[in-house]
Amino acid sequence: MAAAMYFSIWALLIAELVCARSVRQVHDMNEPEDWAVDDFMCPRECFCPPSFPTALYCENRGLKEIPDIPSRIWYLYIENNLIETIPEKPFENATELRWINLNKNKITNYGIAKGALSQLKKLLFLFLEDNELEEVPSPLPRSLEQLQLARNKVSRIPQGTFSNLENLTLLDLQHNKLLDNAFQRDTFKGLKNLMQLNMAKNALRQMPPRLPANTMQLFLDNNSIEAIPDNYFNVIPKVAFLRLNHNKLSDVGLPSSGFDVSSILDLQLSYNRLTKFPRISAHLQHLHLDHNKIKSVNVSVICPPPPSVPGERDLFSYGPRLNYLRLDGNEIEPPTPMDLMNCFSLLQALIV
Ligand SMILES: *[C@@H]1O[C@H](CO)[C@@H](O)[C@H](O)[C@H]1NC(C)=O
Ligand SMILES: *[C@@H]1O[C@H](CO)[C@@H](O)[C@H](O)[C@H]1NC(C)=O
Ligand SMILES: *[C@@H]1O[C@H](CO)[C@@H](O)[C@H](O)[C@H]1NC(C)=O
Ligand SMILES: *[C@@H]1O[C@H](CO)[C@@H](O)[C@H](O)[C@H]1NC(C)=O
Repeated sequence: MAAAMYFSIWALLIAELVCARSVRQVHDMNEPEDWAVDDFMCPRECFCPPSFPTALYCENRGLKEIPDIPSRIWYLYIENNLIETIPEKPFENATELRWINLNKNKITNYGIAKGALSQLKKLLFLFLEDNELEEVPSPLPRSLEQLQLARNKVSRIPQGTFSNLENLTLLDLQHNKLLDNAFQRDTFKGLKNLMQLNMAKNALRQMPPRLPANTMQLFLDNNSIEAIPDNYFNVIPKVAFLRLNHNKLSDVGLPSSGFDVSSILDLQLSYNRLTKFPRISAHLQHLHLDHNKIKSVNVSVICPPPPSVPGERDLFSYGPRLNYLRLDGNEIEPPTPMDLMNCFSLLQALIV
């Protein structure tokens, strides 16, 4: 009896040893690259979904510090915490990071270590909305494609901040404290691929100077812009979406040729001080002119002539492309000018 028991314990032990060996063998066969143990580590404060091993979720946890980021991570979600600083150390192994969401924290410029961001050589998206930044952080990784800085207190852009960001396509600086003096001659130089620039809700009185040549979307709502210089649009020949709602534009503040710019498809000028319908191009499709001081609309005056480029004639056989027009909140005496359709035959929505 005793011998039998002794034997079965031995059998169990041997079985366990064999089993352990075969598990290790299977593991070794599946992972020939010899994963280090800490590749699968998960910071205690965070959640690491097994089905999405390149993501790290640390949001909404009242964190005051950034935990050490494992080297396998591509996507870091750490928004809505109490983080004040971005030191270099937690990121020293995080060389694969593509995406960092640090929105809704308490980060100041003094809290960002000099090399903390620029060491992330593959970073594409950086979200720092709703923090306490007073400057655009610098230096930034050259690989960056989107920089989201809405709702900080940014009033300064250090020299050279953008000069190497050749892949940046989107720069969002809305709801900050930018004044006209934030821009130097070369502030935007180097942003070869910038397509969307948002500076709504700042304290600009002038149009930002020398914008990148590929800008397609320019959002400047809720500033105090009074005028647009002559030839302003020559340096941004691709601008298609232009928003200037809630500014102080008057008739005399417009360029001599108005908005007769063939690239512009969507023009928003609500809540300004225009008394006349501005000049537009036959290419324009959407126009917001509501809440100005326009008194009358004479269609034979505002109707844009077809473009003179011969190849484009067919496109304009139905007249100018305008299909949406808002004119409500002006001082136009009824009856509303229904002969608008004589010029804008594609008009589908007219709000007066
Ligand atoms: C980086 O990796 C090394 C080697 O695996 C490790 O000793 C160190 O603690 C790691 N640093 C961080 C911040 O995770
Ligand atoms: C910019 O993007 C291109 C194409 O994706 C890539 O080859 C290049 O390395 C990027 N530049 C930088 C500085 O990361
Ligand atoms: C601009 O201000 C108006 C009025 O305060 C507000 O309704 C609108 O959402 C603001 N737009 C932007 C883009 O900040
Ligand atoms: C509209 O403008 C044309 C050309 O300037 C003018 O001849 C016409 O009288 C104007 N119409 C009205 C209703 O003011």
